[in-house]
Amino acid sequence: MLSTVYGAGLYGIDGFIVTAECDACDRLPEFEIVGLPDAAVKEAKERVRTACENSGWRFPDMALTVNLAPADRRKEGSGFDLPILLGILRCAGVLKPEVGLDSRCFAGELSLSGGVRGVRGALCMCAAARDAGMREFYAPAVNAAEAAAVNGITVYPVESIKQLVDHLNGDAGIEPVQPPVMADLPSDSGLDFSDVRGQLLAKRAMEIAAAGGHNILLIGPPGTGKSMMAKRLPGILPPLTFKEAIETTKIHSVAGTLPEGVSLLGARPFRSPHHTMSAVSLVGGGIYPLPGEVSLAHNGELFLDELPEFPKQVTDALRQPLEDRKVTITRANGRVTYPCAFMLVGAMNPCRCGYFGHPSRKCTCRPDDVKRYISRVSGPLLDRMDIQIEMPSLTYNEISEEPRVGESSADIRERVIGAREFARRRMGDDGVFCNAQLDPAKIRKYCRIDDSAALLLRSAYDALGLSARGYDRIMRVARTIADLEGNEVIREHHVAEAVQMRSLDRKYWG
Ligand SMILES: Nc1ncnc2c1ncn2[C@@H]1O[C@H](COP(=O)(O)OP(=O)(O)OP(=O)(O)O)[C@@H](O)[C@H]1O
Ligand SMILES: [Mg+2]
Repeated sequence: MLSTVYGAGLYGIDGFIVTAECDACDRLPEFEIVGLPDAAVKEAKERVRTACENSGWRFPDMALTVNLAPADRRKEGSGFDLPILLGILRCAGVLKPEVGLDSRCFAGELSLSGGVRGVRGALCMCAAARDAGMREFYAPAVNAAEAAAVNGITVYPVESIKQLVDHLNGDAGIEPVQPPVMADLPSDSGLDFSDVRGQLLAKRAMEIAAAGGHNILLIGPPGTGKSMMAKRLPGILPPLTFKEAIETTKIHSVAGTLPEGVSLLGARPFRSPHHTMSAVSLVGGGIYPLPGEVSLAHNGELFLDELPEFPKQVTDALRQPLEDRKVTITRANGRVTYPCAFMLVGAMNPCRCGYFGHPSRKCTCRPDDVKRYISRVSGPLLDRMDIQIEMPSLTYNEISEEPRVGESSADIRERVIGAREFARRRMGDDGVFCNAQLDPAKIRKYCRIDDSAALLLRSAYDALGLSARGYDRIMRVARTIADLEGNEVIREHHVAEAVQMRSLDRKYWG
């Protein structure tokens, strides 16, 4: 007898349908699985057999062969236990012959007691099942919420194989999971810009960065609010669209970093990896290539605190993902691509003791050490920071300000959304989503600048000794500043402000 059950595999953030064909014949009892890597087969066999017996069924005394197709695709993970066992149960007659399996897809790892354990990437697998025309997806109960984010397919949470068989046989039903509603998802972290006192210039810089998607570097002595500010950036970015939410959730689903019961991530991710992390955990990799921090920050913010403390090979590894907005990891068993469109925010002290250039406290570092510390932030990385801003110590008046006198994140976000919309109308469908992505050709196309602004830019170019890259950066930021004002033409005061957002280059790295 032959049976066919559908499961799903993972390839990067894309799922694909796997067919588990099970053949049972009355020969000497044996149990073979083909189509899985060696080690995984052995383990799957043990789990499937034991889970079957511990659920109260006799494992069939037949020659069983299970083939996982397509054979030429590498299948990773343990989510195939469930379809394999179902195929066997069908052949053994436990699953009634009239139960239709054609439009149902199953994923889950079995525990020895017959329970169904969580898998990575349930959302991606469910999307693949829907795209293949399936009508029902059976997910481990712990992953059911995320799978339910996929429209157009019914998701059932499965806790044990026994419960699943009863459901399929029509003995006791499992209730499907309700799909999430975007508007109900928590979309902010509760951190508000109005908590930040003073630092008006830096707040303005954050607003411009958010409006144009510009990477930003914050420099200042300890305790001036750099980390505070960075944590509040996602709250002034436009809300996630449904498509972005799905994409971001898929990555977290594959990485296994979705909290249980969470269906869709409603807020933009904020990732803040420590400087002791490896290049692999930053960009992704491993034997089963998993997404790194850059991808976990997809559609959100990657915050590198204490930037000079990151080893050079780690920050160097950032350059390609920043440029391409995706990472491709090559392994012996194939290549996997993960998207990584994120905003980079860096924060640092100007020297090791933190007080270089401080108006009242004395810096205890030697001049050489200050230089060495600063130069640990490499030129190429600095080049990718469109905005650099200094955050000085607060004055007494600022510290003693009434709490929450400043503007709220909601007000700032309103303007950010307006500016992005203004830019989108100009650039339409030109393959760029924000001004930070404008290359030199597109800068020429989209950055119309009036005569007095051009004059100012020329004198800044000469006076500051700008490079061609420096020129581009100022143009991009000036474009965003004009967008915030709803101005199609870049004027003198836009350029002046953009130049101000880039003045630290000379002070620290000059
Ligand atoms: N501008 C500010 N407004 C309100 N509170 C502030 C401000 N700056 C600092 N603080 C207070 O000081 C604490 C430390 O701030 P934060 O961690 O942001 O400093 P930092 O600039 O990142 O310092 P470090 O260089 O040591 O990392 C905050 O939790 C907050 O309570
Ligand atoms: Mg800090």
